[in-house]
Amino acid sequence: MLRVDQAGEYGATRIYAGQLAVLRRNCPEAKLVARMASQEQRHLDRFNRLMSDRRVRPTALQPIWNVAGFALGAVTAVMSEKAALACTDAVETEIDRHYSEQLRQIGADDPELASDIAEFREEEIEHRDIAREAGATTALGYPLLTAAIRAGCRVAIELSKRI
Ligand SMILES: [Fe+2]
Ligand SMILES: [Fe+2]
Repeated sequence: MLRVDQAGEYGATRIYAGQLAVLRRNCPEAKLVARMASQEQRHLDRFNRLMSDRRVRPTALQPIWNVAGFALGAVTAVMSEKAALACTDAVETEIDRHYSEQLRQIGADDPELASDIAEFREEEIEHRDIAREAGATTALGYPLLTAAIRAGCRVAIELSKRI
């Protein structure tokens, strides 16, 4: 669980880094993204800490998520500001699903991990809602774009559990 969660938070920081590299500084979307990115960094730091405490190795796919995450962020931001928000909408929808499933699996077995995941899940849902309120759903090709990104996230999650 820690391996896939750390991979996801790492990917999130890379997506936002890709978007921030492209978005005009000071546009409203860039400000939203910068704030969300700092929360992803906090999530990542926490999972890094837990991984070293519990001696869990990171996914071997990290170098791929580094490049793929940045590329996804950059490409969506090049498409448009709203497409960048649609990317957040899609990614956070899958992360919410993933964390909810983990919380069900953990139950009362690991209160420390469960409380972190529950807290981060709240923030991911907030990110999704911020993106929607800022116009994510008005992005050109929203249904197809978000379906494709969500499918990609699900594949990345399954791979990071295994490798
Ligand atoms: Fe996160
Ligand atoms: Fe997030």
